Amino acid sequence: MSHTERLPRNRTYLMCPPEHFTVDYAINPWMDTTVPVDAALAVKQWDLLRTTLHGLGHTVHVLDPVPGLPDMVYAANGAFSVDGTVYGARFRHPQRAAEALAHQDFYATVGTWRFAGPEHVNEGEGDFAYLPAAYGGLILAGYGYRTEPAAHAEAQEVLGRPVVSLRLIDPAFYHLDTALAALDDRNVTYYPGAFSPAAQRVLAQLFPDAVLADRADAEAFGLNLVSDGRNVILNTEASAMADKVRAAGYVPVPVELTELKRGGGSVKCAVAELRP
Ligand code: ARG
Repeated sequence: MSHTERLPRNRTYLMCPPEHFTVDYAINPWMDTTVPVDAALAVKQWDLLRTTLHGLGHTVHVLDPVPGLPDMVYAANGAFSVDGTVYGARFRHPQRAAEALAHQDFYATVGTWRFAGPEHVNEGEGDFAYLPAAYGGLILAGYGYRTEPAAHAEAQEVLGRPVVSLRLIDPAFYHLDTALAALDDRNVTYYPGAFSPAAQRVLAQLFPDAVLADRADAEAFGLNLVSDGRNVILNTEASAMADKVRAAGYVPVPVELTELKRGGGSVKCAVAELRP
């Protein structure tokens, strides 16, 4: 199969090392508090992800981890930014509430951002994705488990881009970023079964060229990927997903991230994109 060459765009990311990573509470079906995590291994794997992104030419900022906030490694949930405006997070579960402030402090000290504090529950890039070249700039937003639909309207008011609400229907795929990812500025990949029939129809209408994933891909956290438009970083377990993105003309870059899966996340959860 031939494709126009997929071109990467330099990105700026934010990550937080899993120094205090544990699974002491269970707020999604992947978390099992009876299985101990190896925090040292988690840090080692996380660091390889960080150096991989850096090696691809991207800028990676690092957020200081806070003791007592074990899920802070999932930095994608702390905010959602588009064109210099940051829509802050407000976590569904009290265990993660304080993470929002750590992210807010970051935006106050690094770069120049317009920060909008949220009124409604939303978990940042966990439930929001941005496609700058789709329909002039489109935001996709998930709801059903974490983010409130009211936050979708709030995000649209704050960010001035159309927000398309998509209902998630499978608790295993509780955040949008476990079921859908932007492959580049205009196209996505997703697992249809994670969405309501109506949301599937909306996605099929908006993205006729989407790369479709199956349940096994989603369960391997294959959709929880980070793409720069050419290089698609995804976890090693998602080898069938790697084949699918390769067939679509992208370059899969596998990284091992077994420990972070114990908290219910993978590559994308650990990486917030900053859009100045
Ligand atoms: N344990 C975390 C939670 O349940 C995992 C978050 C994963 N992050 C993501 N962007 N999907 O909130």
